[in-house]
Amino acid sequence: MLSPTHLFLIPPTLLLCLLIRRLITNLFFHPLSSFPAPFYTRLSSLPLAILSLLGREPVFLYNLTKKYPSARAIRITPTLLFFPHASSLKPIYWSPTHNHKGSLYGTGALGPTSLFSTIPADDHKALRKSLGGAHWSVSYLKTSQEPRIDSLVTSLVNQLSLLPPDHEPFQMGDKLAQFAADVMTLLVFGKPWGFIAHDRDERRLLTAFRESLPMFSFAARCNSFRELILSSARMRGLVMPKVDDKTGSGYLASQAKLAVAQREQEREEGVEEEGKVRDYLDYTLDARDSKGEPLTKAQKEAHATLLIQAGADTTGSGLGAVLRLMLEHRECLDKARKEIEAAEERRLLSTPVLYEETKQHLPYFVACIKEGLRLNPPAPNLFGRIILEKGGTVIDGVHVPQGAEVCSHPYAVGRDPEVYGPDAEAFKPERWLGDDEKHRAEMEAANFVFSMGPRVCLGKEIAIMEMYKVLPEIVRRFDFDVVSAGRYVDRGGVAFNKDLKLRVRRRA
Ligand code: HEM
Ligand SMILES: *[C@@H]1O[C@H](CO)[C@@H](O)[C@H](O)[C@H]1NC(C)=O
Repeated sequence: MLSPTHLFLIPPTLLLCLLIRRLITNLFFHPLSSFPAPFYTRLSSLPLAILSLLGREPVFLYNLTKKYPSARAIRITPTLLFFPHASSLKPIYWSPTHNHKGSLYGTGALGPTSLFSTIPADDHKALRKSLGGAHWSVSYLKTSQEPRIDSLVTSLVNQLSLLPPDHEPFQMGDKLAQFAADVMTLLVFGKPWGFIAHDRDERRLLTAFRESLPMFSFAARCNSFRELILSSARMRGLVMPKVDDKTGSGYLASQAKLAVAQREQEREEGVEEEGKVRDYLDYTLDARDSKGEPLTKAQKEAHATLLIQAGADTTGSGLGAVLRLMLEHRECLDKARKEIEAAEERRLLSTPVLYEETKQHLPYFVACIKEGLRLNPPAPNLFGRIILEKGGTVIDGVHVPQGAEVCSHPYAVGRDPEVYGPDAEAFKPERWLGDDEKHRAEMEAANFVFSMGPRVCLGKEIAIMEMYKVLPEIVRRFDFDVVSAGRYVDRGGVAFNKDLKLRVRRRA
C-alpha cells in the first residue's frame, strides 16, 4: 500500500529522474556529444551563464582555446558550439543560409523586436534593406554628419582645457562613453542630450544599460531559465530590470516614442526647418518595406532606441580601451604623438582633426585603434547562428548537425595565434604596418569586432569616425597623469573601462 507520504514523493522523484535523463543525454547521447569541452559545459548551459554573470566569459573562452589547442569547435553549452579560429568566421557569418540568429537574441530583454533582435534570416534581410542605405557610408558621414561631431569634440576639448592643473582625477572611460552617448543622441534625435555639457550620465542612460546587461545575458545563455521563466510575461516582469520613465531604457523608449510622434506631426504640418541636417530619425521615418509601405510605429520607435543602445556604450568602450592601452604602452603613445606633431608641422591637420586626415596622415594612430579594438573588443558577446540546413553543414573542417547553434567570439578570435602569431596577446600596433601585405589583408579579414556578413554592425563607420576624431585630438591637446590604470571589464557581452582615472593637462 502507498501511504500519502509516498504519494508526495512521486513528483519530486519524477522531476529528478527527468533531470538526470537530460544530463545523461547531454553528456552521452546528444548530437553534439562528440565535441570537446569540459564536462560541465556539456552537461548544462548554467555554467556559461554564471561565468557571464561574473564577467569572466571572454577570458574563460580564451582559456578554452589554450586547453583544447587542436579543437576547431568547442561545446560551450549543450547546444552551442564555439569556433575559436578566424578561419570559421566566413563560413559562419557570411553564409546566407546560417543567418538565422540564435537564442541569445530571443529574450525580449532589450524591448520590442528591432533589426538587431529579428531572428529569421529573411525577415532580417527585408528590414535591413529598408533601414540600410547610403546614410551609413563614410562618404555620407564626411559630408553631412562630421561637422556636427566636430562640435561635440570641440566641447569636450574645451571642457577638459578649462580644468585647473590640480583638478580632481576623473573617470576617463566614463567621460568618453558620455561623449559617444552625446554623438548618438545628436545623430538620432538631432540634438545631444547634454552628457558632455552637464558633465554627467544624463538620465542614467549608460549606467542603467550596464546594469541591465548581466541579467539579459544570463537569460540569453541559460536555456532552462529562459524556457521556464521568461516565457511568462508575469515572471519576466518579476526578474527583469524594471524600466521606469525617468531614467534608463524606459526613459529612452519614451523619448523615442515622443520623437517619432513629434517628427511625424511636423512632417504632416510641413513645418520642417529649411536646410536642417537630416538625422537618423528622418531616415527611419523614410524607410520603406518591399511593398513601399513605411515601417510600423513600433518598428520606428524600436529602431531609434536600438541605435542609441547599440552605438553609445559600445563606441564609448572602444574609445576608452584604445586610450587606456596607449597609456599603458607609453612608447606607443609617444610614437603616436610624434606622428601627430609631424603632421601638424606640415599643416595637415584641422582643428579638430578630420576623419580623412587621420586616415591619410596618422597611420600609426590608426594601427593603435585597430590593436586596441582587437584586444579589448567593446562587444565581447556570443553572436549565435542556428544551422537550419538539412543534414547540417561543414564549418572550419568540422561537420555540424542541423539544429545546432554556432558562434565565434571577438575576444578569443582576436587572439587567434593562427592569424596573429605567438605574440597575439601583445599590444603591438606595428603588426598592422608590416611589409607583408598578404598577412595584413589576412588580419583585416579576421576582424570580428563589428561582426561580419549580412548582419554586420550598421554603425561601424560612425564608430570608426568617432575614434579617428576624438582620440587623436585628445592625445594632441593633453598630457595625462594616470592615477589608476583601469581595466577591461565584461558586463554581459558589452565591455567597459573600469577605473581609468586620469588628470589631464593642456599641452602648449
Ligand atoms: C565600437 C563600437 C561598436 C561595436 C564594437 C559594435 C558591434 C556590433 C556587433 C558585433 C554587431 C553584430 C551583432 C550580431 O551579430 O548580432 C552590431 C550590430 C549593430 N550595430 Fe554596432 N557596434 C558599434 C557601434 C555601433 C554604432 C555607433 C551604431 C549606430 C549608429 C551601431 C548600430 C548597430 C546596429 C543597428 C546593429 C544591428 C545590425 C543588424 O542586425 O542588421 N553600432 N554592432
Ligand atoms: C584563465 O586561465 C588563467 C591562467 O591559467 C587562470 O588564472 C584564470 O583563472 C582562468 N580564467 C577563467 C575565467 O577561466
